[in-house]
Amino acid sequence: MGTQHLPVLLDEVTTWLAPREGSILVDGTAGGGGHAAALSAWVGASGRVIALDRDPAMLELARQATAGLPVTLVHASYAELDRVLEESGIDRIQGVLLDLGLSSDQLAWEGRGFSFAADGPLDMRFDPDAGGPSAADLVNRLPAEELADLFYQLGEERHSRRIARRIVEVRRGEPFRTTGQLADLVRRSQPRAKPRGRSIDPATRVFQALRIAVNDELGQLDAVLGKLPDVLAPGGRAAIISFHSLEDRRVKWAFKSDPRWHVLTRKPVTATAGELAVNPRARSAKLRVAERCPN
Ligand SMILES: C[S@@+](CC[C@H](N)C(=O)[O-])C[C@H]1O[C@@H](n2cnc3c(N)ncnc32)[C@H](O)[C@@H]1O
Repeated sequence: MGTQHLPVLLDEVTTWLAPREGSILVDGTAGGGGHAAALSAWVGASGRVIALDRDPAMLELARQATAGLPVTLVHASYAELDRVLEESGIDRIQGVLLDLGLSSDQLAWEGRGFSFAADGPLDMRFDPDAGGPSAADLVNRLPAEELADLFYQLGEERHSRRIARRIVEVRRGEPFRTTGQLADLVRRSQPRAKPRGRSIDPATRVFQALRIAVNDELGQLDAVLGKLPDVLAPGGRAAIISFHSLEDRRVKWAFKSDPRWHVLTRKPVTATAGELAVNPRARSAKLRVAERCPN
């Protein structure tokens, strides 16, 4: 089966990246290949989209979506973009897209442990073969204070200390292995609140925090932000879609603080009502775009 993921802000990305025939672009987050396929139509057969993903299962979906198109798929992190380009013999590129976070496909695969809505192994690694610690490793090994800081800093979870304390109590008896175990504990650790409109699942913030930590998402983002001005040709553009304030703040600051950037979006671009009606996931998407100044 193909990808279930609808690419967000697709028209806006193509408008702002303004890809030309013959251009070389990098899609640093291939996912299901939706953005890469659309961009490849603009660069045509004389150009190329180099699409990277850390998750081999996503690359397989991207392969199906981009078959026959001028798209080269590479299993790599976007933080390694400079190495990938060097190995491909490419000096400068005309555009970069980063669509951060995870895809609807990854969320739906119970075996990957990204979702608190289904019970699966507590894993959350984008690249399970790379060997780093899983979410279960962090939950079962980190001291209570570190867990609490992680939930607070990466998930903005107000009850982080209480949740971390309870995790440490429970894991003395039995380690956490599944998403269901952890989601239940988080839900039970919330003080009873009066229902207010449509509230989000209390497990949302803890799961977000663990996913960001397991994949060092902020470290990867900082690394690529530092490299983009060196790989983009003068006039080349970077379009970055983020889904939470920790990412958006970094992107905004990186663009603002480096004189090699000319910021094109004073305010982040967000989804239209029309897009939101068909893709609620676009609700929190923020697109920022900057152009590489001539040297
Ligand atoms: C929101 S999805 C991208 C969806 C894609 N734009 C599409 O049209 O289907 C984000 C993707 O980025 C990948 N990813 C996350 N961190 C990454 C990293 N550091 N390097 C490369 N890919 C990464 C995830 O595995 C996921 O497939």
